[in-house]
Amino acid sequence: MSQPKRYTVTAALPYANGPVHIGHLAGAYIPADVFVRYQRARKRDVLFVCGSDEHGAAITLRAKKEGISPQAIIDKYHHLIKESFEAFGISFDIYHRTSDPLHHETSQEFFKNLSEKGVFVERESEQFYDESHQQFLADRYITGTCPKCRYEAAYGDQCEKCGSSLSPNDLLEPKSTLSGQTPVLKKTKHWYLPMNHYEEWLKWWIINEQKDSLKANVYGQCRSWLEQGLHERAMTRDLDWGVKVPLPNAEGKVLYVWLDAPIGYISATKAWAQSHQKNWQDYWKSPDTHLIHFIGKDNIVFHSIIFPIILKAHGEYILPKNVPANEFLNLEGNKISTSRNWAVWLHEYMQDFPNQNDVLRYVLMAIAPETKDSEFTWKDFQTRNNSELVATLGNFINRTVVLTNKYFEGYVPVRKDCTVLENKVLASIAEQKSKIESLLEHYKFREALYELMELARIGNKYLADTEPWKLFKQDPDLVKTILNVALQISANLAILMQPFLPQTAQKLAKMLQMESLMDWEKAGETEILKNPHCIGKEELLFSKIEDAAIEVQVQKLNATKHTSNTNLSASESVLKPVKTEVSFEQFTSMDIRIATVKEAQKVPKTQKLLRITLDLGLEERTVVSGIAEFFEPEQLVGKQVCYLANLAPRIIKGIASQGMILMAEDPQGQLYLLAPQIAIANGSLVG
Ligand code: MF3
Ligand code: ZN
Repeated sequence: MSQPKRYTVTAALPYANGPVHIGHLAGAYIPADVFVRYQRARKRDVLFVCGSDEHGAAITLRAKKEGISPQAIIDKYHHLIKESFEAFGISFDIYHRTSDPLHHETSQEFFKNLSEKGVFVERESEQFYDESHQQFLADRYITGTCPKCRYEAAYGDQCEKCGSSLSPNDLLEPKSTLSGQTPVLKKTKHWYLPMNHYEEWLKWWIINEQKDSLKANVYGQCRSWLEQGLHERAMTRDLDWGVKVPLPNAEGKVLYVWLDAPIGYISATKAWAQSHQKNWQDYWKSPDTHLIHFIGKDNIVFHSIIFPIILKAHGEYILPKNVPANEFLNLEGNKISTSRNWAVWLHEYMQDFPNQNDVLRYVLMAIAPETKDSEFTWKDFQTRNNSELVATLGNFINRTVVLTNKYFEGYVPVRKDCTVLENKVLASIAEQKSKIESLLEHYKFREALYELMELARIGNKYLADTEPWKLFKQDPDLVKTILNVALQISANLAILMQPFLPQTAQKLAKMLQMESLMDWEKAGETEILKNPHCIGKEELLFSKIEDAAIEVQVQKLNATKHTSNTNLSASESVLKPVKTEVSFEQFTSMDIRIATVKEAQKVPKTQKLLRITLDLGLEERTVVSGIAEFFEPEQLVGKQVCYLANLAPRIIKGIASQGMILMAEDPQGQLYLLAPQIAIANGSLVG
C-alpha cells in the first residue's frame, strides 16, 4: 500500500451522558491512539479528532434521570470524559463538542446542502407518540421486544443484544420510555435518506475499495446489512434538544443525532484548523488523505454504511479508507453495563491505582477484542502487571540500568567481541521493529504489543542466561559487552513502546537520558546509545500489584452485583411514573402481612395462573396469581411472601381468589417475590 499524504483519524464521539470506562478505551480509543502515535512517530501528517456527542436521547434521558437540564449533563460529563482521556494518554489533536456553535453551523450547512441537492425524501407518516408527555417517541424514547432476537429491552433504533438496526414500528409491544405506557400513532413530517438508492453503489464500493482492508468482523456486518437490503431512514426528529433543522416549516425538529454526530468529526477538524492555521478541507476533501474511523462494534453500521452514503450524497468528501472496529470487552463474566454500574470507570481507576495508567493501557491492549469479544478480569490484570510488566519488561530495564550505574558509573560500556549469542540478540532488534511496524500498519495492535514485549523477553532472557552480575571480577570486558547489548535493547524499547505505553516511554527515555534520541527511524539500530553517553539513575517503571488491591476491586464489583437488581430501577429503560398521591389513611387501610406458601399448583388449561395456598398464621388463604411464567410451583413452596390480605375476593377460573401476593416488577418485566430478610411469624403486619 502506498503511503497517503496524510491521515484523518477519528475516534467515536462518546455520548456526554456518563463517565468513560474500560470498554470505551479498549474498543476505540486505545487502538486509535496507538495508530496515531505510531504515525506521528514516523513523521506522517496525521490529525486525530474526537469530541463529545451531546445530542440525542442518550443525553436528554440521562438529564431526566438525574433531574437536571441536558446542558448541565453535557457540561458535567464533557469535562470528566476529556480529563479521563488525557490521563490515559489518548492524544487527540482536538477534543471538541457537538454543542459548539461551530458544529451547529457545520451540520446545518451540511443538511441544507443535501436538501438543496434533493437528496432527502420529505414525507408525512404516523409515528409513536406519548400522549401524557406530548412527545413523539423515536430511538431510545421507545423500547420493546426485538423482533429478531426477542430481547425485551430493545430500543427504537437498535437492539443492543443482537445488534440489529430497528425502527420503532419493528418493536413488539412498544412502550414509551418516558411513561411506560403504550404509545399511540400520530402524523408527523420528516426528511428521509433513501439509502436504498445507494445500495448498488455501496455494494460496489465495499467490494472494490474496502473488502481487502476491512477486518472480518466489520466486513461481516456490512455484508449482512447489504443482504437484508437498505431502507429509508429518517434524518430528522421531533425533539427540542439537538441541531435545529435549518429549513422553513421545520419548527420543533432537529437533526437525527446519527446525522449530526459524525459531522462532528468535520466540525472538530474545522475548529482545530482555525487555531492551527491549517486548511480543514485538506483533511476531508483531498483524495490523497486517508480517513480512518476507530469505533466499537455497535457503531459499525453508522460508519460503514450510513455515513459513507451521506458523504457520497454530498459529493465533495472523501470516504473512509478503513473502519477498524473492535468487538466488545466483557468484564468478569458479564457485559459491561453503564446502567447496572457493571464497569471499571476510568476516573475511579485513576484514584485506586495512581500513576498506573499505562498498566491499564497495557492490559487493555493485550486483551483487546480485536477479532472477537474478550474479557477483562482483575486477576488477569494483576498477573499481566506482575509477570509481564514487572517481571519481564521492568526487571530487564532495572537490571540493565542498575548494573550500568554500579559497574560503570552510568557510562555506556564498549561492546567488544560479540559471540553468536550477541549477534543473534542484536539482530532481533531490527526484526522486532519490522514486525511491529507491519502489524501496526494492519491494525493488529494486540499482536504488535506482543512483539514489543517479545523484545523485552529476549533482553530479559539474555541477561538471565549470561548473568553479568556474576562475571564482573573475572571478565569485565564481557560484562561491558553484555551491558552494551542490554542498553541498546533498552533504548530500542523506549522508542518502540512510545505508541503503546507513552508515559512509560517518557520515564524510560529520561532514565536512559535519551530524550533527543527518541526518533522512530533510529529504532532497529544497535548503536543508539554511543559513547560518551551517561545514563541517569534507576527508577522503577512498574510495581507489583498485591492481592489486597485486587480484592478491593473484586469486592467493589460484587457489591454492584448485589444491588444491581434494585439499581436497575434507575436505568434509562421503561420506568413508570409515580402514581397519584394517596392519604396516610388510605395506605394504612391496606392489610399487608407475611405469609408462607404451603401449596402451589398450575391452574389447569391456563398458561399464567397458579393456585397458591398460604399460611397466614391464624388461617389459610387461597390466591390465584398470574405468575406461572416466572415461577415453577415447587419453587414457591415454603417461601415467605408479602400478602395483601383485605383485597376484595374475586372469582378467577372458578376459584375464589382471596387477596394478593405482592411482587416487584423490574423495567424488563421480570417478577420477583418480596420476602422478609429473615423468617418471621406468619401473620406479621407490614406497613
Ligand atoms: N455517541 C455514539 C456512541 O457512543 C458514537 C457517535 S460516533 C459519531 O455510540 F460518529 F457519531 F460521531
Ligand atoms: Zn435483538
